[in-house]
Amino acid sequence: MTDVSSPFPLGRTARLAVFASGRGSNLAALIAAFLPVPEVAAPDAAAAEACVALVVCDRAEAGALGLARAAGVPAVHVPFGRDRVGFEAAAQRELERHNIDLIALAGFMRILSPGFAATWRGRLLNIHPSLLPSFPGLHAVRQALAAGVDRSGCTVHFVDAGVDTGPVIERRDVPVLGGDDEDALQARIQDVEHVAYPAAVRAVLRGEATFPGSMEAVP
Ligand code: GRF
Repeated sequence: MTDVSSPFPLGRTARLAVFASGRGSNLAALIAAFLPVPEVAAPDAAAAEACVALVVCDRAEAGALGLARAAGVPAVHVPFGRDRVGFEAAAQRELERHNIDLIALAGFMRILSPGFAATWRGRLLNIHPSLLPSFPGLHAVRQALAAGVDRSGCTVHFVDAGVDTGPVIERRDVPVLGGDDEDALQARIQDVEHVAYPAAVRAVLRGEATFPGSMEAVP
């Protein structure tokens, strides 16, 4: 594998892969921000910073797959199977075939291995619907409501070997309103996610947000 230390800015349009398991509203926001085909993009430097070049879904029925294909983005279903070894090997082949520079996990409901996270260190992002480090893991919105907090939000972070533990790139607040249920709060958090994720990707591409600390040996 290539050296992963501080690869950004690249000086060319970055090729972004999105991993998704669900309906894909964050994928839609990333496609809107980073047009899939840079050659036909408006002559706008911000739009040309990246293009969504690949979508990987572990579930064949994920809305994200259809959404990607409708937008003209190469999209593959990579089944997770019994373990993540086969998934990660197949996904890695697709990432190399499509010359991917940066991966955005967007509602991807699988935990990737520490080895995969190390290979993509500084180039693997995730979005989570809470103000991390509060409420990591599943049902983050439900956890926030159960804890009775008066504000929650979303966090975009680099992925490390843990679950929702990597260095934070972007964190945005959303107030919890009286009478909020899980659906209502989640919907308002998602509206904010759709702005936060493209902003975080831009910060990484510009070299404004980097994975701190020394680089590990790549396996
Ligand atoms: C988002 O709320 C994200 O924070 C979480 O999963 C959800 C995915 O939603 N990791 P969508 O598929 O992007 O609509």
